[in-house]
Amino acid sequence: MSTCLVPFNQLYIHSSGEVYPCSFVQNNPDFILGHIQEKSLKEIWNSTAARKLREDHQGILPTACKNNQQSFLCHKVITRSGFNQTDIKLKRLDIMLDSACNLTCIMCTNIYDRTGGLKSDYFWNNNAETLANLQEIELVGGEPLISPHFERIVNLVSPINSKCEWRITTNAHFQITEKLLINFQKINLQSLSISLDSLVPGVFEKIRQRSQFDLVFDNIQKLKRSIPKIEINMVVQAMNANEVTDLYQWTKEQGFHFYPILLLYPQDHSILNRSKKENREWLLKLMKENEFLNSKEIFFLIKKALGNLDLQRDPEVLEAYLDQLKLMEKIIA
Ligand SMILES: C[S@@+](CC[C@H](N)C(=O)[O-])C[C@H]1O[C@@H](n2cnc3c(N)ncnc32)[C@H](O)[C@@H]1O
Ligand code: SF4
Repeated sequence: MSTCLVPFNQLYIHSSGEVYPCSFVQNNPDFILGHIQEKSLKEIWNSTAARKLREDHQGILPTACKNNQQSFLCHKVITRSGFNQTDIKLKRLDIMLDSACNLTCIMCTNIYDRTGGLKSDYFWNNNAETLANLQEIELVGGEPLISPHFERIVNLVSPINSKCEWRITTNAHFQITEKLLINFQKINLQSLSISLDSLVPGVFEKIRQRSQFDLVFDNIQKLKRSIPKIEINMVVQAMNANEVTDLYQWTKEQGFHFYPILLLYPQDHSILNRSKKENREWLLKLMKENEFLNSKEIFFLIKKALGNLDLQRDPEVLEAYLDQLKLMEKIIA
């Protein structure tokens, strides 16, 4: 079986309108499957390029995929339970709704794209059948919840596909309006991922430039009242790496899920830029703390860090990692 099931069940629409299998290969011309201003999603799904990608995934994996699997564990991150290599069907659509954003986070690779693929009516007029049969939509950005396309996609999909499961990632840095809450009610919102990289206002505002910590923090409390599942995304980087367990514990207290993402690219703010000694101490401390927390999310962070830091041959690190593996056997099985 292919290591990655994405080409058999998913498409990703970049804000430019280019369609890729997933966001990990966005901007790589070898993976463009089509454009939403020229073709319907059905045509793109059945295109020669999409078929070829599925064939490659059953044979020799493209080099970019191999590299992404190694560095980002992308095949683990985006594989959904309903994905299946033998049931070749577009089940999930990932949409970068808009590249426009109200913040300028230091680690963000988002580039403002003036063309905006979703500005064209072609997409909105030619995909009803496909959208009616989707099982899942995930919206990212830029900031999807300040985009005018948000209400438009909600109003297009909700009347024809009430079962579709929605997942949205947001910076929660805006005024929460009645209209936004009504739009949430129209959809089967499975989870809202809110980016909160730190609980220390000064650190948060240094990472999330142009932001106000209090606005996001208060909004999280407001959203908690109406959204059943909130996930907290933390991009783990040099500035906040010492806060992983604090944030984990706070999310548990709040009844949220915790999703740490290890920053690998761009490297400037990543822990990859720190000394080996500093990373070794950080990793050992994190593994020690996780012996008590038993968090599989923290374990995956540790696994990803170990895969990308030059510490695999350090006996103390290895021993602690083997202990983590043993602990996780019971939890992940
Ligand atoms: C690009 S943002 C778009 C949604 C929204 N604007 C937000 O910040 O939540 C999607 C997620 O990617 C994270 N992110 C930003 N820069 C990243 C990077 N260089 N590597 C990995 N994730 C990153 C964000 O923190 C956020 O959780
Ligand atoms: S809020 Fe999201 S899209 Fe905007 S700059 Fe930050 S990470 Fe990027």
